[in-house]
Amino acid sequence: MTIWLPDLSGRVGPKYRRISDAIAEAVARGRLAQGARLPPQRDLAHALGVSLNTVTRAYADATDRGFLLGEVGRGTYVREAGPLPARAVTADLARPPAGPIDFSLNLPFPGGAAACLAHTLGNLAGAADLASFLDYRTVDSPGRHAAAAARWLGTLGLDARPGDIVLTAGAQHGILASLLATMRPGDVLLADALTYAPVKVMAHHLGLKIVPVPGDGGGLCPDGLDAACRRVAARVLYCLPTLHTPTTTTMDAGRRAAIAAVARRRGLTIIEDDVFGALPPVRPPPLSALAPERTIYITGVSKSLAPGLRVGYLHAPPDLARALRSAVSLSSWMPPPLMAEIASRWIEDGTADRLNRTQRDEAAARQAMARDLISGRHFAADPHGFHVWLTLPPQWHADVFRLEAEHRGVKVVVGGAFAVDPADSPAAIRLCLSHEATRERVRRGLATIADLLGSPGPSEAMIV
Ligand SMILES: Cc1ncc(COP(=O)(O)O)c(C=O)c1O
Repeated sequence: MTIWLPDLSGRVGPKYRRISDAIAEAVARGRLAQGARLPPQRDLAHALGVSLNTVTRAYADATDRGFLLGEVGRGTYVREAGPLPARAVTADLARPPAGPIDFSLNLPFPGGAAACLAHTLGNLAGAADLASFLDYRTVDSPGRHAAAAARWLGTLGLDARPGDIVLTAGAQHGILASLLATMRPGDVLLADALTYAPVKVMAHHLGLKIVPVPGDGGGLCPDGLDAACRRVAARVLYCLPTLHTPTTTTMDAGRRAAIAAVARRRGLTIIEDDVFGALPPVRPPPLSALAPERTIYITGVSKSLAPGLRVGYLHAPPDLARALRSAVSLSSWMPPPLMAEIASRWIEDGTADRLNRTQRDEAAARQAMARDLISGRHFAADPHGFHVWLTLPPQWHADVFRLEAEHRGVKVVVGGAFAVDPADSPAAIRLCLSHEATRERVRRGLATIADLLGSPGPSEAMIV
């Protein structure tokens, strides 16, 4: 009996990973059908001339990446519901002071806000309406928190009416609420070919088909967007015009106008994720200011003030805002009022501006360090962004680079984690400089990366 064999030609890296990559590609291209059973591990090991351990590791890796499911007594199967990039939703968000240097998470810099919190909590203790923060409240009432949000959005270039603002428990919740409000199972969501990984997971869970739109050095490509709209009946575009993750690109005003024009011509609703919007000191107007009638604008306070506040802001035209309020009620009733109160007080008294400037300045210092230590390499970065996008030299496969970096105590994310089409994974990595508590650890991590980039390729330990 012939068995299915993974195509390993042209692949590099550890053997187990080459097999797992071949499985991933076969699933993505439909050569391995959903529900198809994979060969027993021992048979595949024999057919490929590798150890049983290598195949066991490969199946475990492909299962971890969401392509396979293993069941005792049934063998290993291709996941029926398609790949589930589950790792994106189970990331370890802690910041241990020792151990591996973590460049894998795009969090803001720690510290700074705690002293502000102590002060604000002291003031809050004497508030006459303290009990109201412990009660349910309706998402329909704009109130003070929406007024403060409108002020914050004003600093981001949006002339917002408090009545068009919906509060969420963070931007992540805002994205989910936006998808719930605008899409139904089977609908097509357009997104950058490389996009914020959790959006892929959300689309999967909501039964959406996510279709990649190509980009270039200026960001999402208007012609590519138009071509995608001709090819598929798309309703919604999710995009990140400012400090795009992972590529770091900020679309200029002309590109934004071109994207808005295509969206208008094609009847698309835009979900504009502007979670990093407050970091650059100068930025072009948001898409929402150019196409207000069709844009849901999402931002929050996580990257500028503190992620633990869990406060996000949506801005949308009235019909969409109504649908968004329903989605927020459905998913969490409301964001915690006490947290929204703290964020509002910080916006009103100037603390928010101050904390945001601290984030921006720390980002600039760490970006300067990256420029010094990995200069001459092919990397993209914004002087006020948290991350760096590094295209690898030809001797490096992204997965192998990640493993080698981890082996040397530095965690990074490979470009494939952001690819809408897993078969279209770039040989690049994202380095987030903001997660680590000290500049000294960032410097050490960058020095390790620089060292690896200059080396001739993977060490013996990686080629097993
Ligand atoms: C691009 C992008 N969008 C949204 C979010 C979610 O932000 P929040 O913490 O406000 O939920 C993040 C957080 O990392 C992000 O990087």
